[in-house]
Amino acid sequence: MLKLLDADSSRRLRKFFEETGYTEGNLRKHLGAAELPSRQLRNEARLLDRTSEHTPLNALLRWFWVGIAQQRGRAATVIPSKILALLLESGLVKAEGNSLLPAAMLLHFNGFFVASDHASAIERKHAELVLWPNPTSRSLHRFAVRRHSRATLDLGTGSGILSLAAAQFSDSVVATDLNPRATAFARFNAHLNGVENIEIVEGDCFAPVAGRRFDLILSNPPFFITPQTDHLFCDNSMELDGLCRRLVKEAREYLNEDGYMEMLCEWVQVKGEPWEERLGEWLEGTGCDAWVMKNFTQDPEEYAQRRIRETSHDASQDAASYANYMHYYRHQGVQAIHDGLVVLRRREGKNFVRMEEVPSNPTGDLSEMILSTFAAHDLLGKCDTAEKLLTIHPRLAQDVRLEQICTISEGNWKAETLTLRLTSGFPRHLEVQPQVAEFLSLCDGSRTAVSAILEFASKPNSSSPDKVATECLGIIRKLIERGFMTAAESSPER
Ligand SMILES: C[S@@+](CC[C@H](N)C(=O)[O-])C[C@H]1O[C@@H](n2cnc3c(N)ncnc32)[C@H](O)[C@@H]1O
Repeated sequence: MLKLLDADSSRRLRKFFEETGYTEGNLRKHLGAAELPSRQLRNEARLLDRTSEHTPLNALLRWFWVGIAQQRGRAATVIPSKILALLLESGLVKAEGNSLLPAAMLLHFNGFFVASDHASAIERKHAELVLWPNPTSRSLHRFAVRRHSRATLDLGTGSGILSLAAAQFSDSVVATDLNPRATAFARFNAHLNGVENIEIVEGDCFAPVAGRRFDLILSNPPFFITPQTDHLFCDNSMELDGLCRRLVKEAREYLNEDGYMEMLCEWVQVKGEPWEERLGEWLEGTGCDAWVMKNFTQDPEEYAQRRIRETSHDASQDAASYANYMHYYRHQGVQAIHDGLVVLRRREGKNFVRMEEVPSNPTGDLSEMILSTFAAHDLLGKCDTAEKLLTIHPRLAQDVRLEQICTISEGNWKAETLTLRLTSGFPRHLEVQPQVAEFLSLCDGSRTAVSAILEFASKPNSSSPDKVATECLGIIRKLIERGFMTAAESSPER
């Protein structure tokens, strides 16, 4: 395994990697794409060609990206002897005769160097494989609520990637994992990056943090829904989606009031039930507000095929594996498998549960989007009567645009549709009537809802103030909930 380096040695290694250009942005340019070596993609020949020139960067890439051995004498002509000594001392590189072999893959993510098992290890059915920063870790990282946290928990830390990022806005982070190889990698990565406020503990789910509470819990748990439990990094050890359900059910006990838990997960839809039903049971009585953002849906057949392709590279086993998977799903009445993000917030009082299907390409500051969505629900919860809602100061969000589509008719442009679009967060849109668009132009935070409604109702050809009020309040409520509008409760926001 890897050996922890002292602070000075870690700094020297990082500096060398940075100076040679082993950085996220540069690697993309240098390699032509940031994809890892993969038998499925059959890209090793291209990566070897891209790294054929004998330079320090290519020597590092051949070890820590492509994952191949290099002759010691040849490597020593481009890698300074002190750096080579540190690579050997840390165990990142190990000697076998005249060859120097990489013992880990090294990715640069979000300013951190992250060691993990090599991507090719997945093909060797390595049960205790430690995953590299991958699309799921990147996704959860983007959604992480980045406000000051007194204590953050990263449950199922793997390489420690989420902990490294969370350490920047947290007083302290606890990183846990059931796999001792993962805690070793996470500890190594914390040292390598000079991050000192991460405590790393081995254990099952919440057990290592019994009795402790957090402002933020992040978890990218092993959520695959398969009949097998071979891989710790992805196979859920309980029946179907049981592990994710367990984490949701237990979360409250480990959260401070107003603390968030964000968890990626997959869940099944059982025949005859709507997709929300199963999650409804998970979320019942948690003592938390919940927002479920459902992303992809797959039927069991495509899901089985995909998971087999991802975790098994022995085609001769495909027929048996597929039969086993399908028997499991049929036996359990699984109709579909969904994935998404579950966000919980511990809060005293009557909790809300919001479940929705969301587009898969959100943009902008997603931490801010999560905080403002929960704030919108708080506001609407407080303004639960028309009288209260009339007193708020509604304001269209900065990222809202109004789009008009016109068609040509008898030589003139004729307005067909007016659409409100949100340009950050989830790309939402909402078709509106021209009168609604006109009313919304009054919602700039300078007047109360009642003033905006009265002003609008006083325009020629308007309906009665009561009718306008009912309709406008409905619109305000909907727009606040969907993120198109914000509002101050009493004093105007200018
Ligand atoms: C999908 S990986 C995520 C790793 C990392 N957080 C990331 O986002 O890249 C799931 C991690 O959970 C760990 N794990 C599996 N079962 C666990 C359990 N019962 N309790 C805690 N960790 C577990 C695995 O060892 C693995 O490191």
